[in-house]
Amino acid sequence: MSHRVVWLETGQSFQVEAGEAVLTAALRGQVELPHECRFGGCGTCRVRVLEGRVGYEDELPMGLSPEEAEAGYALACQALPQSDLVVSAEPLQLGSPPTRVQATVEGVRPLGPDVTHLRLRLLQEGLEFLPGQYGNVQLGDGRHRSFSMASKPNGGVVDFHVRRIPGGAFTDRRLSGLQPGETLDIELPHGRFRFRPQDYRPLLMVATGTGLAPIKSILESLMDDPDCPPVSLYWGARTAADLYLHDEIQRWGERLYEFQYVPVLSRADEGWTGRRGYVQDAVLADWPDLSEHAIYLCGSPLMIEAAKADFLGRGASLEHLYSDSFVFQTA
Ligand SMILES: Cc1cc2nc3c(=O)[nH]c(=O)nc-3n(C[C@H](O)[C@H](O)[C@H](O)COP(=O)(O)OP(=O)(O)OC[C@H]3O[C@@H](n4cnc5c(N)ncnc54)[C@H](O)[C@@H]3O)c2cc1C
Ligand code: FES
Repeated sequence: MSHRVVWLETGQSFQVEAGEAVLTAALRGQVELPHECRFGGCGTCRVRVLEGRVGYEDELPMGLSPEEAEAGYALACQALPQSDLVVSAEPLQLGSPPTRVQATVEGVRPLGPDVTHLRLRLLQEGLEFLPGQYGNVQLGDGRHRSFSMASKPNGGVVDFHVRRIPGGAFTDRRLSGLQPGETLDIELPHGRFRFRPQDYRPLLMVATGTGLAPIKSILESLMDDPDCPPVSLYWGARTAADLYLHDEIQRWGERLYEFQYVPVLSRADEGWTGRRGYVQDAVLADWPDLSEHAIYLCGSPLMIEAAKADFLGRGASLEHLYSDSFVFQTA
């Protein structure tokens, strides 16, 4: 039996056939519900089900916590309607529409043992992105790889922090030979992760590894801003060498309001005198009550999954919790 789905914000509707996921039917009907990975990992396609019921083939997809499902959220790429639905989701387009452009490599340099700073100059003027968004570097064979902008919008020059995945098509094989002056094709901007100024609360930002990149872009855009809320940044890494921007971050306090920076290492050596363990556990140790924060989570899907569940247990609200999960690309 087929079901009708209405998207509240745009008024668009489409028919979903039996056994079909909401997103598949939406795209077939030219309805651009937000999405990225399409396998239930990234959470980009999260909608709120205002009317009706959905189910899933097996268990809940990784990008949706039981608490989110309980609160009425669903992942459109996996959800199977069990009745007609009314769903709510912010329309995808933010800043410029995603545009394929050529970019010149301006710099490639190591930032840490497995992180490279890649600076590109976009060869098209006027492309705007919001701090927190990402771009898709094209591999030239139809596949792409996603990387978050690590700099704030800056006249066409864009920084990325790229973690090397051993054997990875882009982060290892392509990046290791990349030279200044070469060109790459990139499509941007993508993604809904961004600073929400209307959600004016103390900011709790939690990142693992290169999950720092979009957080850096957001925080740079808040520097010297008299309306900047208090900021607590927890950055998780394995060893001290992986804290590839440690010294620079310590200086951010001069330009951000009430800035607190807590690096947390999961495999620290004996010389480390700072915090140890998982970054989300350090947050829990410091904040018995998270009901007053706007929370931004970025990086490892496992950290995000654990942090969402733990933080909701400490009073955090899904209405004030934003995440950017660095899931692997499947194509
Ligand atoms: C929205 C978004 C934003 C992202 N932003 C960043 C960023 O700013 N900086 C950054 O470093 N990464 C970021 N990532 C992750 C990044 O896209 C992947 O690490 C990258 O696609 C790997 O590409 P590759 O071609 O080198 O590896 P592939 O050739 O695709 O993969 C090689 C092998 O490694 C595995 N693999 C792939 N990615 C990872 C991973 N992240 N961790 C562990 N194993 C992996 C694959 O399953 C495969 O077996 C982001 C991902 C998303 C979805
Ligand atoms: S598009 Fe549905 S979870 Fe990524």
